[in-house]
Amino acid sequence: MDISQYRVKEKINHKHLLTLMDYSSEDIFEIVSLGIKLKHLYKKGVNKPLLKNKTLAMIFSKSSTRTRVSFEQGIWQLGGHALFLSASDIQLGRGETIHDTAKTLSRYGVDGVMIRTFLQSDVEELAKYGDFAVINGLTDDFHPCQALADIMTVYEVYGRLKGLKLVYSGDGNNVANSLILACAKTGVEIVCATPKGYEPNEEVVKHALEWGKVTITDDLEEAVIDADVVYTDVFFSMGQKDDDKKLKALTPYQINQSIMQKAKKDAVFMHCLPAHRGEEVTADVIDSPASVVFEQAENRMHIQKAVMTLLMKD
Ligand code: CP
Ligand code: NVA
Repeated sequence: MDISQYRVKEKINHKHLLTLMDYSSEDIFEIVSLGIKLKHLYKKGVNKPLLKNKTLAMIFSKSSTRTRVSFEQGIWQLGGHALFLSASDIQLGRGETIHDTAKTLSRYGVDGVMIRTFLQSDVEELAKYGDFAVINGLTDDFHPCQALADIMTVYEVYGRLKGLKLVYSGDGNNVANSLILACAKTGVEIVCATPKGYEPNEEVVKHALEWGKVTITDDLEEAVIDADVVYTDVFFSMGQKDDDKKLKALTPYQINQSIMQKAKKDAVFMHCLPAHRGEEVTADVIDSPASVVFEQAENRMHIQKAVMTLLMKD
């Protein structure tokens, strides 16, 4: 099935959003379709109180602009309330366990917890012990909310997903892993051009191959031919130290005009942001009309409103 044939049900058979590994194509179509519906309502000035009196706690162990603001604005628009919990301000930062944090937050009737942290296992543990929906707001391994917003953006640009080709260039990181899953499950062919030693997670690729077309290569110039979407992310993710060896390996994977010219004529450029102009992408690409990076950023809010509605509504 293609997403254009999918009809929103406003229901999903999941308690949490942890990785997208356990989500089907239909689950992703549901979130994206509801995200688009909520975006249309928002543009008309209509905000349905779908999460009236619901509370989302947001735990951040890493910095954020988009994730923090889009979740907070999103739940407020739906009639709910957000609690910003910086890990360095709560006891988690002083060594309190995830288990005890989960048990405590459950006692206060929190309906959802969005967590941005390092270890994926911490997110899983929070879901195991908490009595609330857990949403992964980025770990070292995954960034599912970003990938869902990205798929929504691609769908808005092209009016379809099936048969499109997305080329991801650079570090095989959290964003790459989640994009692989989201693309493979929605009919978008994904080619990851990464230098040797910096490939995306093998288990993720193996799982994604059961759903769609995924290629891992170190040849960016070849990969980008016929691309509808060219995507990149920072060379050094949060928590990683700059290192010369990695910088040297990744420099040839920069997206510049010469790479964009090898893609399809109307190809779009994507980046989850924040970006480092002159490193993974040149300013003339990210600031060009082909760039849809702020559409992606905006869609984080709409897609997360859909995710929260599906996971937290009674
Ligand atoms: N793309 C993204 O997650 O941005 P932030 O780090 O600003 O939240
Ligand atoms: N890969 C980046 C994404 C930031 C949104 C990081 O983890 O820092």
